[in-house]
Amino acid sequence: MKEKVVLITGGNSGIGKATACELASLGACVILACRNKDKAEKAVAQIKDKSGNERVFFLPCDLSSFASIQQAAEIFHRQFGQLDILINNAGIFTTDLQFTEEGYELQFGVNHLGHFLLTHLLLDSLQKAPSARIINVSSVAYMRGKIDFDNLKGEKSKGTFHGLKAYAQSKLANVLFTRELSRRFSGITANALHPGVVRTGFGSKKTKWSVRLLWLLWQPFMRSPENGASTSIYLATAPRLEGVTGQFFDEKGCCRRMARGAKNEMLAKQLWRYSEEAIGGVGKGGYSDR
Ligand SMILES: NC(=O)c1ccc[n+]([C@@H]2O[C@H](COP(=O)([O-])OP(=O)(O)OC[C@H]3O[C@@H](n4cnc5c(N)ncnc54)[C@H](OP(=O)(O)O)[C@@H]3O)[C@@H](O)[C@H]2O)c1
Repeated sequence: MKEKVVLITGGNSGIGKATACELASLGACVILACRNKDKAEKAVAQIKDKSGNERVFFLPCDLSSFASIQQAAEIFHRQFGQLDILINNAGIFTTDLQFTEEGYELQFGVNHLGHFLLTHLLLDSLQKAPSARIINVSSVAYMRGKIDFDNLKGEKSKGTFHGLKAYAQSKLANVLFTRELSRRFSGITANALHPGVVRTGFGSKKTKWSVRLLWLLWQPFMRSPENGASTSIYLATAPRLEGVTGQFFDEKGCCRRMARGAKNEMLAKQLWRYSEEAIGGVGKGGYSDR
């Protein structure tokens, strides 16, 4: 991995941090794209210490803000250039209706749209790599997801917001994005994964007290972040996955048959068009019309 440049979103905690640490231990140059400077700098120091690798960096990036994502991509281009592995790992689960800077429902906005824009802005760097990989951290929750195009800004959700539905929608969007990336690009592979149920702060950040309590009680039965990172690491490193694209992998690293919603090509194209319109004039080039 010594020649590889890896960018991972949300690399300051949980699954992302464990993934970043292992990839740094394997010698890769690892960039943590994170929204919180203090947490990220602490994570960088810990990863450097644990891996013995000094090539670990913090890139400020708040996925709920197009301006911040654009700035992150500009800094990346100035300081690095080629990108071998992009791990779209960051994610949020909320039980209240909240919004991104551009007014999208927070889970759709961060988990899907923010990553859609970041990937778009980094495509030229990915295309410079001999065999780039995009890894989208999704969830089996995608199977319950439906994309409600008339409600992606929470228009119909006032007073009736259902956090799990919105989360499942965003995770289905991760898989549809993966499918469409694999259809549109050769030379770059894109795969999605479920990390398992993992002992991180995920269920207790923007959730109501009952969910936080459940999350806490569940902890003894969850996988460690290191185990939760195993499929991301496998997808990033396994030579046998060269050329494998458009697939969904489970927490054991097994390739799984997709649920019907994720195989819907029309839906994937519709989501792509919607997302392209949503990011509008932010950045130029990137995705071409296919
Ligand atoms: N844990 C599970 O059981 C489980 C199961 C299935 C799928 N997943 C998926 O695994 C991924 C990682 O989650 P995790 O369990 O490791 O949870 P986590 O420890 O809460 O990590 C999530 C990461 O995403 C970052 N993030 C959230 N909002 C962001 C934003 N607006 N801009 C930039 N970064 C942002 C967080 O930053 P802060 O530290 O600043 O909040 C954190 O670094 C997520 O995509 C999640 O959907 C997790």
